[in-house]
Amino acid sequence: MTGALKIRPATEADSASLLAIYRPFVESTAVSFETVAPTTDEFAARIAKAVASWQWLLAERAGQCIGYAYGSTHRERAAYRWSVEVSAYVHPDHHRQGVGRALYERLLEDLARKGFCNAYAGITMPNEGSIALHRSLGFESIGVFKSVGRKFGKWHDVAWFQRPLRSSPLQE
Ligand SMILES: CC(C)(COP(=O)(O)OP(=O)(O)OC[C@H]1O[C@@H](n2cnc3c(N)ncnc32)[C@H](O)[C@@H]1OP(=O)(O)O)[C@@H](O)C(=O)NCCC(=O)NCCS
Repeated sequence: MTGALKIRPATEADSASLLAIYRPFVESTAVSFETVAPTTDEFAARIAKAVASWQWLLAERAGQCIGYAYGSTHRERAAYRWSVEVSAYVHPDHHRQGVGRALYERLLEDLARKGFCNAYAGITMPNEGSIALHRSLGFESIGVFKSVGRKFGKWHDVAWFQRPLRSSPLQE
């Protein structure tokens, strides 16, 4: 598809378009460990929360939403507050066109600017594309949680990756 790629923060109004990208990964794959797709309203609330606390970006081309990436909580307890989990979803018709990379480059920059120091990504195995994307952006493997998720009657390992964003937080 032609047209310039635009990356911008998502809004609640983008919920239906972005959920259309996410839903098949919930319903047909173990990429997401959710088993029931959220409603449009629930997804809108996730977008609003992420934009306020971390970031949620979408990629569009010719006015069509083709992918998104966002930050979310790593763990709730206070000492974890400068760590962030990240994830990206690109519509399969647009894979290997630099969309995931463009989203992540901006996401990691925005999260660093907000003071987050380390980004983490948990990738359900196998997922060659996601592992390659994360490695190409400087993420390093930090271990595997064996058989930590069960979906569609099968156990799944989750490989964890980490990338430093900045050396110290904005303020303690
Ligand atoms: C993982 C995903 C987000 C990558 O998005 P993408 O837009 O296709 O990735 P890009 O085109 O920006 O690729 C950037 C680099 O990542 C690597 N890469 C991406 N997909 C790859 C694949 N399938 N095989 C090997 N390398 C891959 C390459 O190094 C690539 O650079 P190159 O094309 O110049 O060689 C996309 O495949 C996707 O949405 N997958 C399904 C959902 C998912 O698994 N999300 C991650 C959850 S942890």
